[in-house]
Amino acid sequence: MSNICLTGIKPTGALHLGNYFGAMQPLLDLSKKTEFDKFLVFVANLHSINSVKDANTLRAYTQDIVLDYLSMDLDLAKTNLFLQSEIRALTELTWIFNSLITVAYLERSHAYKDAVANGKEANMGLFDYPVLMAADILLYNSNIVPVGQDQKQHIEIAQTIAKKFNSQYGQFFIIPKPYIQDNTAIVKGLDGRKMSKSYNNTIEIFESADSIRAKVMKITTDSKAPNEPKDPDNCNIMAIYRLLAKPEELSIMESKYKEGAISYKEAKEILAETILEFFQPMRNRRQELLQNSEYISEILSKGAEEANAIAETNIQKIRQLIGLK
Ligand code: ADP
Ligand code: TRP
Repeated sequence: MSNICLTGIKPTGALHLGNYFGAMQPLLDLSKKTEFDKFLVFVANLHSINSVKDANTLRAYTQDIVLDYLSMDLDLAKTNLFLQSEIRALTELTWIFNSLITVAYLERSHAYKDAVANGKEANMGLFDYPVLMAADILLYNSNIVPVGQDQKQHIEIAQTIAKKFNSQYGQFFIIPKPYIQDNTAIVKGLDGRKMSKSYNNTIEIFESADSIRAKVMKITTDSKAPNEPKDPDNCNIMAIYRLLAKPEELSIMESKYKEGAISYKEAKEILAETILEFFQPMRNRRQELLQNSEYISEILSKGAEEANAIAETNIQKIRQLIGLK
């Protein structure tokens, strides 16, 4: 039986450093480990429609995420990339799970409570978000799910649903494990809060070099003078630099901070160039892919076909187990 690693990202706007290090880097990390022989990676467009209501905007965001994924160094021989909405059995499994899980249990979801507290429209899609996500994971009997820290509770909900199904209908689902990297669990934004589109404090990976440089210059710091010693463990510039710099570069920068041998302005200049250098291969690849829409369509249709094949086999067994057949 294959060892499946699965993950998805909602298409809701341009990819920023928080998304990359929080949600994509764990996937890249696992793709270098040999024990996983299959990677299912999808664009969670069904999860987006509870907030993105304009069709053209959704299409544009979807295309962006597909390009973002393909510009990363994924091993396409082992990876199926597809759109979530192409998987026919997914909404059926969501419905089955809806009949298994209680409203009271879902009401404890942090993401739901936060969204409602922030005045977001509480449509049924928002409430049922974790159940659709559980179906995403369990439909393929995935073993491991690389995600950002904020998705931890969603994975726990998927585990609960899997256990409940297994005890109700007989052992079928593998209990999936989350894969969360501690050092990138929460990437800080320009103002030191969590980097997020909703805080307007992001650095986007594919924005222009000048715009990245200008944003880095806006990172907030204390007001220490250029030659004053500075604390590298307590600095918004360093918090981002740490994610990107090579170990020897990092220790040089840390020494300069402690010795008061660098100004914040200089540190920002180094950070901006480090960001650009780090993502240059992805930026080049994305540019090439933009000219090659046929190649992208082929990858997506092959990805959906193979994911649907696993999904169909499993949903037939599930139907049998619950008496729909
Ligand atoms: P945003 O907060 O900008 O709207 P999303 O909610 O669309 O970002 O994030 C998509 C995924 O990227 C999240 O589920 C999370 O795993 C990851 N992510 C987003 N921001 C960060 C961050 N600042 N640090 C770590 N991971 C993040
Ligand atoms: N909820 C995830 C996010 O906001 C996206 C997602 C949907 C997902 N289904 C998934 C992630 C299944 C991992 C596994 O980032």
